[in-house]
Amino acid sequence: MSETVKLTIGEKTYELPVIEGSENEKAIDITKLRAESGYITIDTGFKNTGSTKSAVTFLDGEKGILRYRGYPIEQLAEKAEFLEVSYLLIYGHLPTKTEYQEFKENITTHTLVHEDMRMFFEAYPAKAHPMGIMAASLCTLSTFYPESLDPNRSDEAVDLTIHRLLAKIPTLAAWSYKNAMRHPVIYPKNHFDYCENFLHMMFAMPTCEYSPDPIITNALNKLLILHADHEQNCSASTVRVVGSSQANLYASISAGVSALWGPLHGGANQAVIEMLETIINDGGDLEKWINKAKDKEDSFRLMGFGHRVYKNFDPRAKIIKKAADDVLGKLGVVDPVLDIAKKLEEVALNDEYFQSRGLYPNVDFYSGIIYRALGIPTEMFTVMFALGRLPGWIAQWKEMMHDKQPISRPRQIYTGETERDFVDIDKR
Ligand code: SDX
Repeated sequence: MSETVKLTIGEKTYELPVIEGSENEKAIDITKLRAESGYITIDTGFKNTGSTKSAVTFLDGEKGILRYRGYPIEQLAEKAEFLEVSYLLIYGHLPTKTEYQEFKENITTHTLVHEDMRMFFEAYPAKAHPMGIMAASLCTLSTFYPESLDPNRSDEAVDLTIHRLLAKIPTLAAWSYKNAMRHPVIYPKNHFDYCENFLHMMFAMPTCEYSPDPIITNALNKLLILHADHEQNCSASTVRVVGSSQANLYASISAGVSALWGPLHGGANQAVIEMLETIINDGGDLEKWINKAKDKEDSFRLMGFGHRVYKNFDPRAKIIKKAADDVLGKLGVVDPVLDIAKKLEEVALNDEYFQSRGLYPNVDFYSGIIYRALGIPTEMFTVMFALGRLPGWIAQWKEMMHDKQPISRPRQIYTGETERDFVDIDKR
């Protein structure tokens, strides 16, 4: 007999089913609540509301646990390649050697974007934010593949779109950087692996070769894995909502990029570095800035701190913090921003305001410091987040489509004017 809960409204008592997940999480299923009682529930920001069941990613905010398809993030970040993790998230299992080789070949052969795409890049101003270019370019890609606009066409057609997206997003990202530098674009090279190819397209010039440093490619591989998915976050939920209307996958991913751009979400990695530089330029008075973050009258927030789910520590932040020390040490980079970040973390974690609210460094607090050391400009940081998150968005979209979920269309409680008659303008 499955568990139920009782809800009493007035004289009537309603019995609602409880669903339980594989990690013993429980939810009250309110699917029938409105039809039976006329009531809906409301939960602004969905802080306590589940939008779906999912088998892709599990995280436990209290225990600081994060697993992709059951595999702990710590093991994947240490032992796996990013494309291997992408396959795992999208298809639900670690690929065999044969499956992985075929997957990599499918992606390598789609890294070029249509030459006509170059016209769009040449039209963007140098100061165009690369996230704006990325969101627009992903939707533009769909215009080159009209046959891919039907998300239900066939598994083969969906796989081809998945391969194209994974293959072309590094090219689009690197080209947006070259656009900002007003440098000629660099084309992908098939002999490079995924991370090497991206770095080559970013930093090679027609006048000189660029050989990716294994320290840098390994650091990038780890960062992309750590960003690959995070269950029903703002951008993944956006991809699911847009995809639920049967919009094509390019459009759904483009919407996810737009949601990620916000400084409260993926845009935080850029905002963290800008915040730390501001604190350094302001004389490094940490107490002053901690107090500003605590002051309700002050709009300043400690960027890279706090999380909707992690009320203990973000396991990704722990790994990235250690990686920052490793990478900067190996590259011989001394960055005052890392020092001030560590001091800020120490002051904040010993402050009652942050402790009582469970505010700890999140994935964005240290990631920008590594990107800086890899030579990636600050405005590209959120694009790097999007590169990592793409397989997670695809996996979430694929699961939503496989489960034939209905179009997302929340209810509301109306609080506006009750009925009134129109008044002619000369009588207002
Ligand atoms: C990501 O969802 C995901 O999984 C996202 C992500 C992913 O992988 O997809 O993990 C990636 O987006 C990480 C978060 C990056 N954003 C930032 O670092 C921006 C700074 N952080 C905050 O804006 C905030 O912590 C959020 C947006 C991350 C979470 O906001 P919530 O869950 O809505 O929490 P809240 O705003 O209700 O805060 C609760 C309390 C409030 O104080 P009180 O009203 O209780 O007095 O904590 C305070 C907030 O004012 N607070 C902060 C704070 N974050 C929360 N105060 C100062 N500085 C902060 N950073």
